[in-house]
Amino acid sequence: MTQTAKPDLIDHLRREQANAVRLYLQYKGYHWNVAGPLFHDLHLMFDAHATQVFETIDPLAERQRMLGATAGYTLEDVRAAASLPEEAALPASPREMIERLREAHREIILGLKRGFDRADEDGDPGTADLFAKIVQEHEKMEWFLRETLEGPSTLLDAAAASTGAVRAPTVRPSP
Ligand SMILES: [Fe+2]
Repeated sequence: MTQTAKPDLIDHLRREQANAVRLYLQYKGYHWNVAGPLFHDLHLMFDAHATQVFETIDPLAERQRMLGATAGYTLEDVRAAASLPEEAALPASPREMIERLREAHREIILGLKRGFDRADEDGDPGTADLFAKIVQEHEKMEWFLRETLEGPSTLLDAAAASTGAVRAPTVRPSP
């Protein structure tokens, strides 16, 4: 049986594929650049979540193929389809990193739920199930991040020392 493309449902898949690429890079960026007393835990958690997010990219792309569309793969495709904004600069503290990640997960969770609804309306349980599986993973990662922020600890507010490495070099006035 030949599947016909469903443009709107494809758009939901494209957006979430692109968002997953963005979030993967965001997690890796924080994995590399986080610093402070909680470095070890956060460094490992960010990498574990990066892997989890990375593994959602392939099924989202392949589902587009199954529905008869082309799966995007260039940076331009990601820019065109993502609803998550590109980060302009590293967060100033581990707390801000976690808050930004929670924000990204919440955006993705909403998008996946909209995709699920659309797939359901279209009578496409396979795509609906894919969205439902992935949304559970994002909900779990968001929960891990939320729990990390619990309590009065100030350990998360330490400045990320690594931000010093990306600071613009001091410009000396010419003699
Ligand atoms: Fe690493």
